[in-house]
Order: sequence, then C-alpha cells, then structure tokens
Amino acid sequence: MNVLLSASRLRELLGELSFDGPAYRELSDRIRLLILDGRLSHGTRLPSERELCIALGLSRTTVSRVYAELRDSGFLESRRGSGSVIRVPYVASSTSALIAHDTGETSVSLTYAASAAPAGIGRAFSAAMHGLPALLTTTGYLPDGLPVLRERIAAHYAARGLPTTAEQIIVTSGAMGALSLIARTLLTRGDRVIVESPGYPHAFDALSSVGARLSALPVGETPWAVQPLRAILRSGPHRAAYLIPDFHNPTGALMTDAERESIAGLLRRAHVTPVIDETMSGVNLDGVPMPLPFAAYDNRAVTVGSAAKTFWGGLRIGWIRAPRELVMPLIQARMSSDLGSAAFEQLVVAEILASPDEIIADALKSLRRQRAHLRAAIARELPDFELSVSPGGMSLWVTLPRRISTALVAEAARHELILTPGPRFFAHHRAAGERHLRLPYTHTTDMLDEAVSRLAAAYEQKSAHSRPHRVSGAIDLIA
Ligand SMILES: Cc1ncc(COP(=O)(O)O)c(C=O)c1O
Repeated sequence: MNVLLSASRLRELLGELSFDGPAYRELSDRIRLLILDGRLSHGTRLPSERELCIALGLSRTTVSRVYAELRDSGFLESRRGSGSVIRVPYVASSTSALIAHDTGETSVSLTYAASAAPAGIGRAFSAAMHGLPALLTTTGYLPDGLPVLRERIAAHYAARGLPTTAEQIIVTSGAMGALSLIARTLLTRGDRVIVESPGYPHAFDALSSVGARLSALPVGETPWAVQPLRAILRSGPHRAAYLIPDFHNPTGALMTDAERESIAGLLRRAHVTPVIDETMSGVNLDGVPMPLPFAAYDNRAVTVGSAAKTFWGGLRIGWIRAPRELVMPLIQARMSSDLGSAAFEQLVVAEILASPDEIIADALKSLRRQRAHLRAAIARELPDFELSVSPGGMSLWVTLPRRISTALVAEAARHELILTPGPRFFAHHRAAGERHLRLPYTHTTDMLDEAVSRLAAAYEQKSAHSRPHRVSGAIDLIA
C-alpha cells in the first residue's frame, strides 16, 4: 500500500509560492528536489490533481502540467485507479541533493560536509599493508571489530577523560552503520525518540525507519536550552534522545559542560537513553577546550564515533561505545545485517590512530582556511545572509532573509549548484527550515568561489521577485 501525501503537506513542503518563470516548471523542479533529497520517497502517492489545485490555488492546467513534467522525466507513474506514485529513476538517484557527487563536469555540489582525504591517509594504507599477511590468516569476520582498533578507540576515550575498555567498543560501517544498528537494537515501533531540530537528516531517517516517532527539540540561537527538553519529557515517555553535542551538524554548536550535566540529569530521571553522535568531535577548528564526552555525565549513554570527518569518509569506519550490558545485544542484532566491517580498513584506522596528530592538524588547517574563505566570499557577495559562528564542524549554517530555502535551492540547481534545502534538516515544523541553508566548506577555495558566485546569481534571480507572489484563487500563473 502506498503512503498518501496530503495536498496540504505537499503545499507545506513546496515552500514559498513565488515564481520567476512558468509556475509548472518551478513546481515540478521543486517536487523533483524533494524526491532527490529524500523528503519524498519512492512509492509515495501524490494527492490528486484536483486536491492540489485547491491547496495551491492554481489552475488545473498548471497542476496537470506539473504532473505531466514529472511523468515525462521518470519521477511519477500515474495509473488509473491507483493515482500518481513517485518513482526515483536510476540516474536521478545518483544525483540526490543530499548524496550527490558532482552531477556533471560543470556542476558543483555543496551537499556533503566531508573532505577529500588528507595526505597521511595514503601513507596509513601503505603502512597497514604490513599487517595484512597476519590478517589474511584469519576469516576476516569481525562482528565486534579488530582487537587492536578496539583498543585504540578505547584509549582515545580514556585520553578524553572517559575511562573505556576495548570490550565496550563495537566497530561499525561508519557512524551511519552505528546509528542504524542502535536504532534496530534499542527501539521498537512506536517508541518516541527526542531529536534535535535542526539535526542530521540521515539519523532522522534511520530512527524513523524502525518506526520511531520523533519529538523535535529546537536547537539554534540558544543551543540546548533545557526548558524545551523538560516540556518534551513531560509530554510523555521517551525511549531515547539522539543528540550531537560536539560541533552539531548542521549548526556547528558545542554543548557546554554545564548543559551536558543538566541534560544528562533530566534524561536519567526520565529513563531516556542518550544516543550521542560524536562524529564531528575531532573537527575542533578553533582549538577550544573540549568539554568531557557526554557519557562521562551519564554512563547509560550509547556513543557513536567515526573516522569520516578528521580522517576520511571513504574508510567507512565508525564505532559504538556502549555500556557493557548493551554490547552483546548490539553484536547479536548486527548478525542480521553485515556480520562486521571491512577488515583491512579497520587495520588502516588502527594505523592512523597510533599517531593521528599530523593527519588531524593537516585536515583542520585546510578546513580553517576554507571556512575563512567561504565566510569572506559570502560576506562580499551575499551580504543579506547571516552566518553562524561556531568553533568547529564542517559547514556554515546560514540564516536567509526570507523563507526561500527550497525556492533558492531549486534556482541554484538551474545554475548547476547542488545544495540541500534547509527544511531537510528539520524533524518537524519544516517551514522553519525555509529560513536556512547549510553550506559546507569542504571544497577547495576555487570551488567555493564558484559555488558562491552561482549562489549569488540564483539569489539575485529570486530577489528580483522579492515580493512573494501569493497565489490565491484558481489563477494560472503561466497564462
Ligand atoms: C552528525 C553525523 N552523524 C553521522 C554522519 C555519518 O558519518 P559516517 O560517514 O561515518 O557514516 C555524519 C556525516 O556527515 C554526521 O555529520
């Protein structure tokens, strides 16, 4: 049975209804964008043309053309009796706004907050070759992880002030592998889970995919205000809280020790398990003193880490630091998925962690330079944009002067600049995301210049029509 999307929900997802060109073209572009960035999934049934006409206040001709465009480009299948159902065509799925590589020679994608590998990673691969003969004498199945890697990850926590044994570490396929394993092990359908909003969209998806219901904790101007958390906890029982305290994605904020202590206390008293994503914790660009890991304030916390950000995403190595009683249930649950992570890459990460300082310094130096460059370029070319100030992370969180994120991203795509629309980072109340854009600074400075000039062109195009054309009644905007 296909999930039905209501006309009012689609209206909300489409963002501001002001159009520069033919309305049918903008609307079909925006629906394609929603499909490509994962907000509308394969198999979702769109509302009938008649319902959408009423919700948007547009003519039947326009809405029929929107659906016809989507059908022609392979994004929609309409069958008599079963309505119009979303399809994600094969080619399009590799150009998703959130997961895109550069979609062509001339296009630029700012959808990843991830860098190319620093030089030292290649050397670590070579050094790991020495350990390979011994590894090859084993089966290579490592459901809990390579012992030497587990030891080094544990030592890394101890060095950060959180005593940890290797038995508490499970190596996973990236932080995403860790999150989906935790979701499958900890949650049952209908469980309520607190998530930050804005937050990391793939984590929302991992939690929702096991049937969790997400409660959105607003973070932003005053990150981690405790009052809204209290209100959520009072609203009913919650099973877990997924938080990114270290250089939060997308805002870059860093949770203070005092906030950690009070949030941990509230969650403990409400019997809510903290799931703490520390994927970004190494990206301390300004070298600020780091608070203790969240688990130091609550030993029930299940912590997720990754080699992706300070080392390289292509390693696909992450890990879970779990309380002892959860280790075996997690390992058991993974048996139905991947049976362990790639053995050689674990050896490589063990090699890196033996002396990581130079690689990290190298990665942070480039990121600092790129961050300064992107900030300056935006201040120069897009002075209306307000930028987040944070001591770390890999992206700027932009506040736009108007609610135009989706429309701007659709326009940017016409300039071959691929971005993730702000609403994608919001768990609920996605309209709030229309004031935001996440701009990673993980490309070279030349590429960032190119991205900013395309974004400025797209913004200018949108601003030329700055008074939102609020459509009402059955007006056909292409007439
Ligand atoms: C907060 C957060 N969690 C998880 C991930 C995914 O990490 P990995 O590549 O290790 O799966 C990312 C990647 O951007 C992230 O920012």
